[in-house]
Amino acid sequence: MAEDTHRIFVCTTCRHQGSDCRPGFELMKKLQDALAVAAPLTGASFEVSGIACMAGCSRPCTVAYRASGKATYLFGDIDPDEDIDDLVAFAAQYRGLEDGWCSSPTRPGKLRRTTLARIPAAMIASESSKVNVS
Ligand code: FES
Repeated sequence: MAEDTHRIFVCTTCRHQGSDCRPGFELMKKLQDALAVAAPLTGASFEVSGIACMAGCSRPCTVAYRASGKATYLFGDIDPDEDIDDLVAFAAQYRGLEDGWCSSPTRPGKLRRTTLARIPAAMIASESSKVNVS
């Protein structure tokens, strides 16, 4: 049976206040490279993609983790120069969690205090399984 793909979305439109710099592309590339190196630890099932605004604009950069049947996370205040190791460590943790659920003290490094959202998988499943009956 094929392993479910885990997805990481990096906002490529985030800007630091007072700057035109959009560090999301740099963050995405660094994270892709680091995950490739860490594949024996994290598994090869991560896809990293850029995405426009995830509504965390005041906390750049934002990064989201998502997988089928697992809680979804949105992190903010991610620095491409300082936080790649924490993102890779969380990828390994997230992959190992059956339902993706973990509390902030168990998350690596900075991700303990920069979580903007944790959305339970059951909530996503119930929304997606709605059927319009007429
Ligand atoms: S521009 Fe990145 S979250 Fe809005």
